[in-house]
Amino acid sequence: MEQLLFFIFLLGISAGSAEDLSGKIFTFPTTSSSAFVKLKPNMEGDIQNVTVCLRYATDLSRGNSLFSLATPTQFNAFLIFNLKPGIVRLHVGPTAYADIWVPQAKEVLPLWTHICATWESSTGLGQLWINGVGTVRRGISKGFKLNEKINILLGQDQDYFGGGFASDQSFVGQISDVHMWNYVLSPCDIVGVYNSFNFTPGNVLNWKEMQYELHGYVILESESKMHCQSGYA
Ligand SMILES: *[C@@H]1O[C@H](CO)[C@@H](O)[C@H](O)[C@H]1NC(C)=O
Repeated sequence: MEQLLFFIFLLGISAGSAEDLSGKIFTFPTTSSSAFVKLKPNMEGDIQNVTVCLRYATDLSRGNSLFSLATPTQFNAFLIFNLKPGIVRLHVGPTAYADIWVPQAKEVLPLWTHICATWESSTGLGQLWINGVGTVRRGISKGFKLNEKINILLGQDQDYFGGGFASDQSFVGQISDVHMWNYVLSPCDIVGVYNSFNFTPGNVLNWKEMQYELHGYVILESESKMHCQSGYA
């Protein structure tokens, strides 16, 4: 009995270990087919409206996966994929996607881009928001519902549920501030998220209360280590 209680206690620890990742970033240092971060959602099943936001920095010119959400039957159920500089492919549902034009990063530092992808089942309208500014709205998989188990990965594109990785679609660079909501945020809400000011954290994924697993060569670092702090200027 004592052993059983101890076992249940251990399960409780591993199941409930959410971490505040504020000020932290995941660095994916090299091209690989083995490095990824699995993010555990706070809810799944019957998600009809989606907003995903994150911040990233990469200097890849090849295609790379920014956010891969798969279900057992649909590997690209919600996928944000950098197709090439200037085009982001937003996949929703079984096979549909839109290639959405986004302004290319200026050739100045910092390299960070903030991106949000929104999608609403009833109209099928999907849209990207780059640094708080909206792109065109495109119809993708109208009527689709995320009503299965979901698996969310950063760093790799899933070509089957939880696997099927190709190194030439892997992400190399930095990712931070990942949030996901089961509703479409208003433009003002998105600007709030972009400015990291007075926003409601994601209710499906919350960067400030994240359960995650690191696999392979991924480094979790403090962003403060990457800037000159006052005193040296
Ligand atoms: C999704 O959004 C539509 C339109 O805003 C709304 O009518 C519907 O109730 C939402 N569905 C869910 C499950 O939240």
